[in-house]
Amino acid sequence: MTETSKDCFPEGFLWGGAIAANQAEGAYLEDGKGLSTIDVLPRGAVGPIMNAVEGKYPSHEAIDFYHRYKEDIALFADMGFNCLRTSIAWTRIFPNGDEEKPNEAGLQFYDSLFDELLRHHIQPIITISHYEMPLHLVKEYGGWANRELITFFRRYAETVFRRYRDKVKYWMTFNEINLITSVPFVCGGIIPSSSDNQQPVIYQAAHNQLVASAFAVKACHEIIPHAKIGCMITTAPAYPATCKSDDVIAAMQMNRGTLFFLDVQVRGYYPAYIQRFFKENYISLDITDEDAKVLKKNTVDYIALSYYKSKIAEASRDEVGNVNLPTNPYLTSSQWGWQIDAKGLRFTLNELYDRYQKPLFIVENGLGAVDTVEADGSINDDYRIEYLRDHLEQVREAIADGVDLIGFTAWSAIDIVSNSTGQMSKRYGFVYVDKDDNGNGTLKRSRKKSFYWFKKVIESNGEDLGDV
Ligand code: BG6
Repeated sequence: MTETSKDCFPEGFLWGGAIAANQAEGAYLEDGKGLSTIDVLPRGAVGPIMNAVEGKYPSHEAIDFYHRYKEDIALFADMGFNCLRTSIAWTRIFPNGDEEKPNEAGLQFYDSLFDELLRHHIQPIITISHYEMPLHLVKEYGGWANRELITFFRRYAETVFRRYRDKVKYWMTFNEINLITSVPFVCGGIIPSSSDNQQPVIYQAAHNQLVASAFAVKACHEIIPHAKIGCMITTAPAYPATCKSDDVIAAMQMNRGTLFFLDVQVRGYYPAYIQRFFKENYISLDITDEDAKVLKKNTVDYIALSYYKSKIAEASRDEVGNVNLPTNPYLTSSQWGWQIDAKGLRFTLNELYDRYQKPLFIVENGLGAVDTVEADGSINDDYRIEYLRDHLEQVREAIADGVDLIGFTAWSAIDIVSNSTGQMSKRYGFVYVDKDDNGNGTLKRSRKKSFYWFKKVIESNGEDLGDV
């Protein structure tokens, strides 16, 4: 039986692209903005942490979206976006994170940004914290390991809900909250230490974020009853390396590393398997009765996810933090070694929907690749079109399977700084930005071939995925 369904993207499906404040805006100290964690990373999330703010730091200028957003939004509108996912930089609103009063200039920036989007009939889809937090909260409080951050985050979240209540209908709390176990500094402001076992600290930080997230859900429901607020995780399904039951169990355990974060945010409590993991690893968390109540009562309205790749679990390998994983021989890889698996997206959407029965929202999916500007100025990124087309075909299948999907925002709307490497050459956008890894370039924007392709996809509401 063939199961291809041609026109199953629902009416009102949200189509667009995604970016994040810290990877796009630049203007890192403008209009009262404070230093954020990303501003001290010279080479992206997996590079070293520097204390000085001299030299080349990719977030300082990024693609200068802060000053060029009008031009960029006009391009997004031309592509037919009906939504744009971006984030608010916490440090524009509360430069140090622990102030009582917000920074008015920072609030005004997002007023102007959201107004400009709405003027073009593009809905802002907003992540409250995307891989950045005030550096001051790391230095003075030890990052998310400290419960006090819950109070600061609540104040920040409530401030933005009140301010943008008439402008933003879709919210997310923490970007890829499940990655705190692999990139604790970027996700949680936890400075890595090679000497101590950091697991207890990292899981305490994760708990504090989960509670803060639940408080944000509560505040959002109270302040903007018509809005929807979701959690956001990165997905990369783990397949067993063989059909040996040990490998199947290894895959189950690896997948639970992600599902745990969803179980807490969607079902409202810590599942038994994670309690066992904590016990066996001598992790004892500070979870108050109030925390447990807040988690239980304030579950999310939808699940937002990023999807780029799948991975392999093998019982005999001692993988730590998803490194040293076997390669899947049935898949090809991107230039950065991410294994390309479009069907894994259909699988993931079905697995999540079967388990939770909550609407899903794909808020990141795309290909990081080196692009070449031809002599005539064209950028023929057929590989990106192929990647996205293959994934969208599987999204269509998943919808035909019965998955309730709110929308699809490709990563990324426009070339921005890579989160993991800090490179500009790892490009994901439909719009090319003239800037290289050393920070040189005019920042001029140009449409890639994928721009015209995606425009047609949106125009046809996903019916015309084109050929490459
Ligand atoms: C996701 C992040 O992990 O993947 C983004 O939410 C990031 O911030 C994207 O940019 C792609 O990863 P990278 O490292 O290639 O930029």
